[in-house]
Amino acid sequence: MTQTNMASCPVHQNFDPLADSYVADPYPTLSAVRDEVPAFYAPAIDMWVVTGYDDIEAVLKDPGTFSAAVGQRPVFPLTDEAKAIIKEGFHASPVMSDCDPPKHTRIRRHNLKGFSARRVSVLEPKVWAKATELVDAIRPGQVDLVSALAYPLPAYMIFTFIGFPDEDMDMLKSWCGNRIAFSWGRPSPDEQRDIATNMVHYWAYCEEFVARRAAEPVDDFTSDLIRIHQDDPSALSLEEITNVAYGLSFAGHETTTNFTGNAIRRLLLNPEQWDAVCADRSLIPAAVEEALRFDSSITAWRRITTRAVDVGGVEIPADAKVLLLLGAANRDPKYFEEPEAFDIHRGDVRAHLSFGKGIHYCIGAALARMEARIALDLLAQRAPKMRMVEGQDLTFPANISFRGPRRLLVDWPE
Ligand code: HEM
Repeated sequence: MTQTNMASCPVHQNFDPLADSYVADPYPTLSAVRDEVPAFYAPAIDMWVVTGYDDIEAVLKDPGTFSAAVGQRPVFPLTDEAKAIIKEGFHASPVMSDCDPPKHTRIRRHNLKGFSARRVSVLEPKVWAKATELVDAIRPGQVDLVSALAYPLPAYMIFTFIGFPDEDMDMLKSWCGNRIAFSWGRPSPDEQRDIATNMVHYWAYCEEFVARRAAEPVDDFTSDLIRIHQDDPSALSLEEITNVAYGLSFAGHETTTNFTGNAIRRLLLNPEQWDAVCADRSLIPAAVEEALRFDSSITAWRRITTRAVDVGGVEIPADAKVLLLLGAANRDPKYFEEPEAFDIHRGDVRAHLSFGKGIHYCIGAALARMEARIALDLLAQRAPKMRMVEGQDLTFPANISFRGPRRLLVDWPE
């Protein structure tokens, strides 16, 4: 760590969340930088990085100083070819995670109704039914639990919640492709072109879908939003509803796939805790919470400053891109006893910041928790003897925010 010529801002030349070693396991770095300094500048990504629980929480609670506008922007400049494809056919605009008040407040209010505890509990039988169907299809032997369960379950749930027809599922999933790499990674020029092309297809699909629902609303979340629009077009425009469908189908899918993979992995890496969960399934909600703290699917999130500001004694200039290390906050010893230990019996787990805090707090938190809980419950019932395949080479997508194993091989017992 060195000092910049900017007053009192440390610089970390080696901090690079896209480095292979960080992608493979970010936690040693996350804890080391948190213990070293509250905030620093990272030239590798041109961002100011905030490391500790208190400072990250304060940033999340101050949307006036820390705008969310940068949340979905590509970290690195796009090629001219990718920019041209996007300009021609992809017209998304901020509605929630990358939107600031007052627009954010108006749009979020209508969306929250769809994700209330009551609405989510209505979905519970559907999650059980889909998860049961997926687990029933598993045969003894080596199984990849990401493709067998962690991927299809949240995808099916969020797509049907939005109202996308069943028969479009495979096409939609293929278009989802690698959107994480596009906005949070460093995709090659060819990858940028392919992802941008898929985003254009996806966007056109969402526009047509919303137009169809506007002509004929049915019983789904998009139709609920259409009814709000029809009662009062100034409450929510059709273009905003299209953006919500586009955004939710991503936010409600990749995050939970990655998280379910992380949760299963952490339990199987601690076989005595997996055995405890199988013996007493009432421990599952606590196991889900500890997995959220210990190995969340979002390790970092972004903001951009609207003015110069002091964070933990470090000066961050106006217009600075800021990276909040949620994964470091979740292991901050100030809030968690023995933070580097995975322990489903800990009492302090609820304080984790995995779903954020403040006005952008994750609207899908209850749904994500429920999907992971049901997936673990079924696995505990059907395959208490399952173990991770030893010696497998786990790989994780290279990006600054999202983390989960691409495949997770287990030995599924007879
Ligand atoms: C374990 C899974 C999940 C994790 C770890 C996660 C994490 C997060 C985090 C950290 C934020 C706050 C971002 C910020 O402060 O700017 C957020 C916001 C959001 N999440 Fe999630 N999420 C998950 C699942 C879901 C699901 C299932 C959905 C949808 C059904 C969803 C929809 C959203 C939306 C729309 C926002 C933006 C809310 C706003 O800006 O007002 N998330 N999520």
